[in-house]
Amino acid sequence: MSRCRTSTARLSLALFAALAINSAFALRPASDTNLVLVLEGDSLTDNGNVFKLLGVPNSKFYFPGRFTNGPNWVDYLTDTVTKFVKNATVLNYAYGGATACANSETATAVPVIKDLGNQTAAFLADAAAGKVPKPSADTRVVLIQWVGSNDIDSALRQLAAAQAAAAAANTTGPDLQTAGIALATSIVTCRLTAAQAVAASGAVSDIVLLPISPLYQAPAVPAEFKAAVTQLVGFIDGALSAQAKSLAGTFSSALKTRLHWAGDSSWIDKLSTTIVPPFKNTTYPCLWNPRSVLEKIDNLTLCTDVEDRYFFDQIHPTTRFHKHFALKGLLPRLQQLKGVVPRRVALNRFIV
Ligand SMILES: *[C@@H]1O[C@H](CO)[C@@H](O)[C@H](O)[C@H]1NC(C)=O
Ligand SMILES: *[C@@H]1O[C@H](CO)[C@@H](O)[C@H](O)[C@H]1NC(C)=O
Ligand SMILES: *[C@@H]1O[C@H](CO)[C@@H](O)[C@H](O)[C@H]1NC(C)=O
Ligand SMILES: *[C@@H]1O[C@H](CO)[C@@H](O)[C@H](O)[C@H]1NC(C)=O
Ligand SMILES: *[C@@H]1O[C@H](CO)[C@@H](O)[C@H](O)[C@H]1NC(C)=O
Repeated sequence: MSRCRTSTARLSLALFAALAINSAFALRPASDTNLVLVLEGDSLTDNGNVFKLLGVPNSKFYFPGRFTNGPNWVDYLTDTVTKFVKNATVLNYAYGGATACANSETATAVPVIKDLGNQTAAFLADAAAGKVPKPSADTRVVLIQWVGSNDIDSALRQLAAAQAAAAAANTTGPDLQTAGIALATSIVTCRLTAAQAVAASGAVSDIVLLPISPLYQAPAVPAEFKAAVTQLVGFIDGALSAQAKSLAGTFSSALKTRLHWAGDSSWIDKLSTTIVPPFKNTTYPCLWNPRSVLEKIDNLTLCTDVEDRYFFDQIHPTTRFHKHFALKGLLPRLQQLKGVVPRRVALNRFIV
């Protein structure tokens, strides 16, 4: 009995000590770590690069420089991180329309868009020119890479065209499974090649690979294709995750860079159902853009209940989703990934 009490007392003392240490840590000013976030990606991540060059998406409907109706996840993450880490810098290399692999269609139609290889080259040039702080004991340089949906979109359109042509010519169309494997292989290869080039340069301390976004939820994907696109996204995530896990050891030992896999796309998918208040309309966007968002169209019709919608246009989520993604989805994951973002960036204090 008394032994039991003693050990309970010891346990609570130990617990108390642990709590005291934790809160001392939490209260310490956040000035001992410099954080540099480097972003590579597409229209979900771009917060002004395409707009500066082309003046799209049309700011009559879209928030200036964003592919949504307000700030995007990069804006929300930056706001939060800069409140809690005194010295944070964010460098965004993402371009709306960007693919993971070189895409001749995009390169011809909109040559200013930098694909992942081009974004990586631009970052490495800046790093070589001394424009990016170098990683050190007190400076984490964290690259977040999130790209691949536009590769899928482009491949699906090419496949549909090839199938239509085959049907018209009464020949056999492309084999879908073979096409899916080829697509997954190319996305994984392009993403890891870019990560490897960055790691080899010594310009970052961490690389975070985000999964493919849950493209199948987008209203642009017709109902009859949703199952196939879901399977494809899962397959690509699986391949990315396996490669990332098998290369992480080499990255950390030979290249001194931590390679993190942020989990497959199902956590992003589920975020649309955990938002409060819930979205009332997850299937239809606030506006339907009949052309590419990279064309400036003036006669679109906006909904009057954008706060209730998951999607702003048929591809891009609303700013409410972006905020939820940044603060409830990505930030906690960054904190778990071996301190990419300090844990003292306390979650509960700012989530609204
Ligand atoms: C992207 O890289 C390719 C190949 O290196 C190059 O031909 C192209 O001009 C680059 N595009 C941009 C926008 O930098
Ligand atoms: C802020 O961080 C950068 C590296 O990101 C470093 O070069 C600079 O000295 C830091 N500034 C202060 C005031 O600590
Ligand atoms: C298409 O090919 C099949 C056999 O390959 C043939 O039976 C059919 O008549 C062809 N149809 C047309 C419209 O040519
Ligand atoms: C979503 O919005 C569309 C039109 O904007 C409407 O037709 C549809 O009924 C709405 N769905 C729900 C569940 O409210
Ligand atoms: C909207 O404008 C485009 C040209 O920008 C035109 O092709 C289209 O017909 C217009 N649609 C309507 C409904 O007026």
